[in-house]
Amino acid sequence: MIIYKTNEQVELMRQSALLVSKTLSEIARLLKPGITTLFIDKKIGEIVGDHHAVPSFFHYKGYPYNSCISVNDVVVHGFPGHNELKEGDIVSIDIGVILTGWHGDHAYTFAIGDPGDAVMQLIRVTKESLYKGIEKAVAGNRIGDIAFAIQEHTERKNGYGVVRELVGHGLGRSLHEDPQVPNYGKRGSGPILKEGLVLAIEPMINMGRKDVFTEEDGWTVRTKDGKPSVHFEHDVCVRKGKADILSDYQPIEKAEEENPNLFTTLKIAQPLV
Ligand code: CO
Repeated sequence: MIIYKTNEQVELMRQSALLVSKTLSEIARLLKPGITTLFIDKKIGEIVGDHHAVPSFFHYKGYPYNSCISVNDVVVHGFPGHNELKEGDIVSIDIGVILTGWHGDHAYTFAIGDPGDAVMQLIRVTKESLYKGIEKAVAGNRIGDIAFAIQEHTERKNGYGVVRELVGHGLGRSLHEDPQVPNYGKRGSGPILKEGLVLAIEPMINMGRKDVFTEEDGWTVRTKDGKPSVHFEHDVCVRKGKADILSDYQPIEKAEEENPNLFTTLKIAQPLV
């Protein structure tokens, strides 16, 4: 069952999404080689708590942490732990919150130091594909139009692997609502998009093959070929003509640019001399 949100509800969801953006931006300022992903997870709990919200992943279907922190070949649902981030790692940080009863759920992939041109390219193309999907999240289109746009840019144009087992989703009073939002599919297929539908669109794109497996812990999803994977996620509301992006990468990108420990696509485009 698809649940459409009223304008008032969408504004509440924007506050939830923006709290995730703010949390991700504060975390972006802390990232450096040597910190553990468990330290990041604890900070996330503190920041979210300070804003009178709760981390929604904690205890969701038994999930044991505040956030999902996925390094290198971990696609998504990585457990925070005592492992330290090191120069050349890429790390997806995925945070969910519940604020006044409404969910925010979004994610960003950071590069700690220089992971090399090929990996930076994967980051750039995956982020671009998220926006190409969002461009199609307008009333009258179908889920398949979003899916096709993401697959077209990542798999067909750049030869990357699109993960099939995990998908984006509707978002609202629940973390996962209908419809599912795959990152692959046929134009013009699937449920029709109407105003007030809020979606979490989240391409999970592998440098190598599309195949993944889940570890013994029941959560950690890794690429089978051991090559890196990138994940970006935005919360968007379907509107006529143009989607409304509820989450915001701007504060995160600003923090990323200002953190000398982080490599960014902008820093590559304009190298300092
Ligand atoms: Co999600």
